[in-house]
Amino acid sequence: MSQVLVVTSGKGGVGKTTSTAAIGAALAMNGNKVAVVDFDVGLRNLDLVMGAERRVVYDLINVVQGEAKLQQALIRDKRLDTLFLLPASQTRDKDALTSEGVARVMDELREHFDWIVCDSPAGIERGAMLAMRHADVAVVVTNPEVSSVRDSDRIIGMLDAKTAKAERGEYMEKHLLLTRYDAARAERGQMLKVDDVLEILSIPLLGIIPESEAVLNASNVGCPVTLVDGDSAPAKAYIDAARRLEGEEIPMVVPMERRGLMSKLFGRRAA
Ligand SMILES: Nc1ncnc2c1ncn2[C@@H]1O[C@H](COP(=O)(O)OP(=O)(O)OP(=O)(O)O)[C@@H](O)[C@H]1O
Ligand SMILES: [Mg+2]
Repeated sequence: MSQVLVVTSGKGGVGKTTSTAAIGAALAMNGNKVAVVDFDVGLRNLDLVMGAERRVVYDLINVVQGEAKLQQALIRDKRLDTLFLLPASQTRDKDALTSEGVARVMDELREHFDWIVCDSPAGIERGAMLAMRHADVAVVVTNPEVSSVRDSDRIIGMLDAKTAKAERGEYMEKHLLLTRYDAARAERGQMLKVDDVLEILSIPLLGIIPESEAVLNASNVGCPVTLVDGDSAPAKAYIDAARRLEGEEIPMVVPMERRGLMSKLFGRRAA
């Protein structure tokens, strides 16, 4: 059965697009047929992170408006033949995404894919609402800081109230993905601790993605970090998160500050 997953956050710049690409690729590496869908009309970022920007001909709006068939707009990944991108339009008006059209495209995607991963725009405006509308499961991307947690709390409220599933009286499955986690800053008290975030948001933890240069390097070469640098800490955390989405139980790794750990060990030995 196909699953529609929305990657959402409320606050901008927290790592939604990065996470959509990384989780989409990880699910595809596990043998699933995956479509990542860019709902961020006007900004069009997912194609860059996926390294497909020069191959975009048709986009989500063309398909929603009936100007192109779904198969014409889908771009197959160069590296993984089970991974596809449905890009967003950079130029068109956001209002061109009609709710009936989006519903039709999502139904069609469900016929062809195991996982449909929707990259939401920031905020709680129409685009974000359309991205979450048909989701079966939501990943709420949050940075360990107060403003991000507050916006995630708002988006959790929206997920429970405004989605098709919520309107049918069904429970909306939600997972917390803590991203850009900096262990050193958390230890110094400059960031919220994992437990603090969990206590405020009170949804199950899907993974903790460390702040890492590997993510920036992957973005620069236009490849999901899980594909280009699978042994890096963020890739491993994303791969585990994807496996948890598939129902596997995997122990959670909380990123530790290596220097802090070393000095603690050293300190203990010296004592
Ligand atoms: N774990 C990480 N380590 C380091 N940098 C990261 C990490 N995750 C994301 N970033 C960087 O943070 C920036 C924002 O990430 P991204 O575009 O994925 O966020 P977004 O939530 O999709 O933003 P927007 O709301 O604008 O769509 C990018 O430059 C990205 O490379
Ligand atoms: Mg984005």
